[in-house]
Order: sequence, then structure tokens, then C-alpha cells
Amino acid sequence: MELMEAIQQRRSIRKFEDRPVSDELVRELMDAVMWSPSWANTQCWELVQVKDPAKREQLQQTISKGNPATKAIVSAPALFVICGRLKSSGYYNGVVTTKFGDWFMFDLGIACQSLCLAAHDKGLGTVIVGLFDQDAAGKVIDLPEGYEVVAMVPMGYPAQEVKAPKRRPPEEFLRVDSF
Ligand SMILES: Cc1cc2nc3c(=O)[nH]c(=O)nc-3n(C[C@H](O)[C@H](O)[C@H](O)COP(=O)(O)O)c2cc1C
Repeated sequence: MELMEAIQQRRSIRKFEDRPVSDELVRELMDAVMWSPSWANTQCWELVQVKDPAKREQLQQTISKGNPATKAIVSAPALFVICGRLKSSGYYNGVVTTKFGDWFMFDLGIACQSLCLAAHDKGLGTVIVGLFDQDAAGKVIDLPEGYEVVAMVPMGYPAQEVKAPKRRPPEEFLRVDSF
């Protein structure tokens, strides 16, 4: 698949076929995360694939009311909890280097996009889920000190066709020389 095609045609998928995603395929997709750019190559991402159905249900409890991805947390054939190591991205010798402090969210965002695009390339659907209680989710996966849960990514073979939500055209957001 062409990269531009993948970027344009990837959609957030929240309904999945009852068909497993193999460990081999998951391992292949991890290469896409591995090769993502990150601050000074800090690679602060940590992923937890949650297979235990009881933990899946506990994670679903952390999802905010009305979140359209709620069902997918349990029903998706694969689920990843995306975590970040703190105080590495954006730091030099333990000291923040920019006014934004920790850049882990930025690096994890890129890693998520790599994961979702690679999954799309393999015929899989994903949705990045950010609206939930991250601290409660951390307890479910025994998150250690110094890390944060940021997002969850349910994944599987799509069981729905989704229309692309409207985008802002480049003419609106690309400027030249000044804002
Ligand atoms: C950081 C982030 C958080 C998101 N959180 C949620 C979420 O909690 N629930 C959900 O259903 N979709 C979530 N989404 C998916 C967006 O709604 C979706 O990407 C957007 O509407 C554009 O649609 P598309 O992905 O099909 O192009 C999130 C996306 C991003 C990038």
C-alpha cells in the first residue's frame, strides 16, 4: 500500500470481526513502533497487550461515559495500553530543555500513528482511545512508578466501513513566512 493512501484511508475503527490477531502479526507491528522517531531517540514508549478478559473488563470500567470506543476495549481481538516513561523525552541530564517540559505525549503520539498505519497496511483497524481514567487503567496493568498510561488502542479486522470525518484543507492551515 502506498504511504499517502494509507495515511488518507486509515479510519478509526470501533467494531471488529471475531477473528484473532496473531502474535506474529503483533510482533511485526511492533517494528513500526520501534522505528518511530522520538526526542533524542529516547524511545520512551512501553506497550502492554492485554489479553486477560478480566483485565479487559476492568479497563473498560475506566472509560469515560459516552465514549464511542467503550465496547471495543473488551470486544477488539487485540488491545494495547500505551504507556510512557517520564523524565526522558525532552530532558538532557535529567533537566528539562524546553518550556514544554516532558515530551512523552508527543513521542507516544507518533508511535501510535506508526502502529495504526502499519496495522491499516496489514488490513487491520484501530482506534486511539484517550478519553478514560488513565490512573485507574495504570492500576489494572500494574504500572510502575515513573510511567504514565496515555492511551489505549483496540485492534482487529474491521467489521464496519466508516466515512472519513471532514478535514481542514491545507489552504486553511498552511501559511508562508508568518502566522
Ligand atoms: C489523541 C486521540 C485520542 C482519541 N480518543 C478517542 C476516544 O477516547 N474515543 C474514540 O472513540 N475515539 C478517539 N479518538 C479517535 C478520533 O475521534 C478520530 O481519530 C477522529 O475523529 C478522526 O477520525 P479518523 O481517525 O477516522 O480519521 C482519538 C484520537 C486521538 C488522536
